Amino acid sequence: MKKIYIIMLLFLPCLVFGQKFPNLAPTPPMGWNSWNTFKSDINENLIKAVGDAFVKDGYKDAGYKYIIIDDCWSLKQRDKEGNLVPDPAKFPGGMKALADYVHSKGLKIGIYGCAGTRTCGDYPGSKGYELQDAKLFASWGIDYLKYDWCNTTGLNAEKAYSTMRDALYAAGRPIVFGICEWGDNQPWLWAKNIGQLWRISGDIAPCFDCVIDHGSYKDWGVMKVVAMRKDIRKYAGPDGWNDFDMMEVGTGMTVNENRTHFTLWCMLASALTMGNDIRTADPSTVAILTNKDMISINQDPLGIQAFKYRDIDSTEVWVKPLKNKEWAVCFLNRKKEPVSIEFDWTEHKISDPDFDYKVDFSRDKFNIFNIWSGKKAGTTGEVVKSQISGHDVLVFRLSH
Ligand code: GLA
Repeated sequence: MKKIYIIMLLFLPCLVFGQKFPNLAPTPPMGWNSWNTFKSDINENLIKAVGDAFVKDGYKDAGYKYIIIDDCWSLKQRDKEGNLVPDPAKFPGGMKALADYVHSKGLKIGIYGCAGTRTCGDYPGSKGYELQDAKLFASWGIDYLKYDWCNTTGLNAEKAYSTMRDALYAAGRPIVFGICEWGDNQPWLWAKNIGQLWRISGDIAPCFDCVIDHGSYKDWGVMKVVAMRKDIRKYAGPDGWNDFDMMEVGTGMTVNENRTHFTLWCMLASALTMGNDIRTADPSTVAILTNKDMISINQDPLGIQAFKYRDIDSTEVWVKPLKNKEWAVCFLNRKKEPVSIEFDWTEHKISDPDFDYKVDFSRDKFNIFNIWSGKKAGTTGEVVKSQISGHDVLVFRLSH
């Protein structure tokens, strides 16, 4: 009898508090998502071709892993048993076969669901069907679930996301759980034990600093997403990331803006989810998205999100502590016109406001590696004198 009580006691916390699969995202998840470019115009040939491009064009080698099918993949209604049904016109081979194809490339597959009655695109949501849907996703071999927040009137976000977390856990397949409630309910305060990442904003727009007002909601340019939330970096880290949304690199901005956008997502330790048509990406876009030195800043195992150290006129200086007492430093020119900067490291002492990392450049000298030129750039004993083009960045990795 006693043994039984002890076993029950051991399992009690899981029953009371629930749990997510541990350690599915020790570094920010990297992948591709269909929504930004394709919206409802998706099908299995597209997903397969994206998988092929992952391998052929170096994305897989660079670390990208998840191919995520967003909204509009199912029929408009569930079947008689209450199951979600992949639209046979878009996915004639079914999701299991598609997952097998993606897995055969050494990649992982993601799908989209919604906590409400209907998805944002008006397909069936998972409210009341959480376990049934989680089991179906697991049976197909799904590895990642993006879970949206449309048509959720009256629902409590923390509880609704916990319900799906528990359903995924009960279904038994480790599935990365991406929370997508746009930051409305401050998920950084409660989601660490629920999902591996949480969106912090409404949808991104393919522009550097614009806002697109749809009346009832807005889409946000890159710099607007970055500026949207204050003081949330302390909540992010391994296995629980602030998600700054799918990237718009390669969907219409200039090369400089693409580079700056990608740099910021790396500095901010955001999920790196490509949103462009990677089958037809131009060489500069491919080079940006697959820059391994920049990606290693994003994937640094400390998992610390960058903070803005200072504004120097129109230049923002962003700083990210890295493992082995290294640092990433980004000078970002907000203006459309080029700027000249002069930065004397020895005049700067930097202290992370949320984590215990400090550096005094008058005492500690580093070697500088310029990430985007791919070249060594002297030491912090010398003054940086450089021109930065409009909307562009200068990014350094500092090491001993
Ligand atoms: C919401 C999400 C988007 C996308 C669409 C799909 O707007 O925030 O990322 O998934 O729904 O309808």
